[in-house]
Amino acid sequence: MAVPIDAAASVRVPPKRRARACRSRVASLRNASAVVIAAVLIVIVTLAMPAIAQTAAQTTTQTTTQTTTQTTDPALGRRIFDAGVGRDGRQVIGRAAGGSLPMQGGAVACANCHGANGGGGGEGWIEAPDIRWFALSKPYGARRAGGDARPPYDRAGFARALRSGIAADGVALDPAMPRFDLAEDEIDALVAHLQSLSDAAAGGGERPLLVTLMPHSAPAAAERLLRGLQTCPTAGASARAVQTLPALRVIRYGAADDLDTRLTALAGSGSVAALFAPYLVGAEAAFAGNDAAHRLPVLLPMAMRDLGDDAQVLFALPGLGAQAQALLSAPERRGERLAIAIDPEIAGREALAQRLRTRAVRKGWEVEVRIGADAVSMSAGVDAILALTGPGEPVAPVSPRLRLWVPAAFVRPAALDAWRAAGARVRIALPYPPRVGGDPRWIPPADAWVAAGCELMARLPPLPQRPDAIDAWRREVAALAPLRLGDWIDLPADADADAAIRRVHLDDWPPDGR
Ligand code: HEC
Repeated sequence: MAVPIDAAASVRVPPKRRARACRSRVASLRNASAVVIAAVLIVIVTLAMPAIAQTAAQTTTQTTTQTTTQTTDPALGRRIFDAGVGRDGRQVIGRAAGGSLPMQGGAVACANCHGANGGGGGEGWIEAPDIRWFALSKPYGARRAGGDARPPYDRAGFARALRSGIAADGVALDPAMPRFDLAEDEIDALVAHLQSLSDAAAGGGERPLLVTLMPHSAPAAAERLLRGLQTCPTAGASARAVQTLPALRVIRYGAADDLDTRLTALAGSGSVAALFAPYLVGAEAAFAGNDAAHRLPVLLPMAMRDLGDDAQVLFALPGLGAQAQALLSAPERRGERLAIAIDPEIAGREALAQRLRTRAVRKGWEVEVRIGADAVSMSAGVDAILALTGPGEPVAPVSPRLRLWVPAAFVRPAALDAWRAAGARVRIALPYPPRVGGDPRWIPPADAWVAAGCELMARLPPLPQRPDAIDAWRREVAALAPLRLGDWIDLPADADADAAIRRVHLDDWPPDGR
């Protein structure tokens, strides 16, 4: 299964040659030596549904800086700021002026509105000001939304602004700024955190980076992805025309809690421009559960499960949700019975189950959804099974009418063969067309990711020199034209759900070319 996709080429891509290089990448995929499909499918990975709806609300994607030198609890200040979590893990409560419903926790995290580094942000029509301490404590410092200058804040003025919404100049702050129930020590911790954000801004921070994540003991597919990205294949690019591609910093992680720590540190460093093709297979839940990580754009993640609705995923191949929905786009089946089995470890499974049920019911199916059940245990008396879980092997002969539908993440060749042999008709969904042109051989996932990754890397705008330009860089990235690799795959930065479903590739099992 080791198929070097273009071993000879390790030169960087000059801009003029990109189109050609792209064609050659597809060609080199075509030339990849024959692949054992069973091995390939075991590692076929799918991508998170591009959960981009959030980005509009999250116009600020800068990252925070870790505090180091405070005497008060710096971690507390950062938690309140980043996540609205106060002392002893309580959810901070913020009330919009005018007595409307209180909001709490993440919904009122300062970072949501003031930007992850406190440098200010714009959510909707009202702009939240820079609240890093140097800005607040400057006489006539940062202008507020109304455009007025105001006197400097001190600690007492800051506490008053947070608790009763009165600005340093005695004027009521815009109702968009919540009124908080913060205790003295929480206020102190926040001040310390805002000071540390100031320090980071003054130091200019580290040079922005593109980071990829790899497990310490990475499977062959992951190493191959990394090797491929580090030596992006090009066709005949001459050394003098070489354009420098951004360097990828590789961060290795161990167990889930190690990944968690590293993600928090990366998001907190303020210098990570984006995560690039991180290998997250098996670590999806840890990623989905890390709020700090959701501030980092994730380009072309390699993952089997969804990365959570809050993740900012760009240039993703269609994920599990899109694949499952595509499998349901068969013709109407009025009155037939469909069972949907969902692995309990899928992030956002309840919402996913609901979407799938709705879609199936609209198609006329009678639907039964079970979370945690395997396909085997659901096969009695149904006409079709959508298995978002390991399908297992059938225990008895099944009805020849039975259809088994399986997204790539749950394809286990031996089990699918057994279902076939028992009489079921089996369909699988894949995040990309597994073959190029008329070639019957399948493209291993790592090669597909490398092909897309190298093309994307060549297209990225140059990394900014300073952390304060990261936001602008991210906006440019999000606005890039879709990646087209020949007529093989087409990857828009942020595909809407329907577009993602249309890009799913469906195949019968066993696929030809196996
Ligand atoms: C829902 C959005 C939102 C959240 C959450 C929020 N703010 Fe604000 N904040 C604003 C807006 C908008 C303003 C500007 C109000 C105005 O100028 O009238 C503001 C103003 C301020 C000001 C006054 C700045 C000045 O120049 O006068 C301070 C201080 C402040 N916020 C601190 C915080 C802190 C600390 C948190 C978290 C505990 C927080 N804010 C959470 C929206 C928000």
